[in-house]
Amino acid sequence: MKFLRMVLLAAIVSLPAQRAHAAADVAAGQEKAKVCAACHGENGVSSMPGIPSLAGQQDQFIQWQLVFFRSGQRPNPAMAPIVGELSDEDVVNLGAYFHSLPYNTKVADGAANAELTAKGKTVAVDHRCSSCHKDDFRGERAAPAIADQREDYLVKALTDYRSVTRPSVGVAAMTEAAAGLSDDDIAAVAHYLATLGPPKTVGASLKTVGPAKK
Ligand code: HEC
Ligand code: HEC
Repeated sequence: MKFLRMVLLAAIVSLPAQRAHAAADVAAGQEKAKVCAACHGENGVSSMPGIPSLAGQQDQFIQWQLVFFRSGQRPNPAMAPIVGELSDEDVVNLGAYFHSLPYNTKVADGAANAELTAKGKTVAVDHRCSSCHKDDFRGERAAPAIADQREDYLVKALTDYRSVTRPSVGVAAMTEAAAGLSDDDIAAVAHYLATLGPPKTVGASLKTVGPAKK
C-alpha cells in the first residue's frame, strides 16, 4: 500500500511536467472527440445510463482517467478499445477540449426528492466532500466536477471506489472518502449532487443554514 501511494504520488508530480511540453490544441481535441460523441453525447452531455457527461469537466481529471483506462488500472470494456488508440498528445488535447465545453446544469427530469436531497447534503457536509470538490462541487485540477453529473453514474463511481475496483489519484483520496459511506449514504449524496442545478442556487443553499431571518 505504501509503495502504491509512492508510485501514485510520483505519477502526480510528473503529470504537470509532461503537460508543460505540449500545449493543448483544443481544435485537435475536438476532431479526436468525434468518436466519443456516440456514447458521451453530442456536446459532452450524456443521455445514456452508465455514461458520464464530460462537458466542462476538469481538464486534469479527464487526462488522468484516460491514462488510467489506457494502463488498465481502471478496467472498463467500453473505454479500453478507445484509449488504446490515443497518444499522450491526444490525451492532452481531449482534456482541453471537453473542459472548454459549457457545463451542463440541466437537472435530470423528475423533481428532486426533498428528503433524499436533505440527507445527501448532510452526507456531503459530514464527509467534507467540498474540501476537495470545492463549494460549488465543480472540482479543481485532478478532483472532478461532480455537480449535475448523472445520478446513476455517481452511484456507480462511489460504489467502485468503495470496493476499490477503481483507482484514485492522490493519496488514495477517493478510496478513503468512499470507505465510510453506506449504500443509503451513496444513494442520497448522488441524488443531492445530481440535482444541484445552476451554481447560484448551490452557493445560496450552502450558505443558507437554518431560517433566513432570526
Ligand atoms: C462505447 C462507448 C464509449 C465511447 C465511444 C467513449 N466512452 Fe468514455 N466512457 C464510457 C463509459 C461506459 C464510461 C464509464 C466507465 C465506468 O463506468 O467506470 C466512460 C468513462 C469515461 C471517462 C471517465 C469520466 C468520469 O467522470 O469518470 C472519460 C474521461 C472518458 N470516458 C473519455 C472518453 C473520450 C475522450 C472518448 C473518445 C476519445 C470516449 N470516452 C469514448 C463509454 C464510452
Ligand atoms: C481528499 C479529497 C477528496 C474528498 C474528501 C472527496 N473526494 Fe471525491 N474525488 C477526489 C479525487 C482526487 C477524485 C478523482 C479520483 C480519480 O482519479 O478517480 C474524486 C472523484 C470523485 C468521483 C468520481 C466522479 C467521476 O466523474 O468519475 C465522485 C462521484 C466523488 N469523487 C464524490 C465524492 C463525494 C460524494 C465525496 C464526499 C463523500 C468526496 N468525493 C470526497 C477527491 C476527494
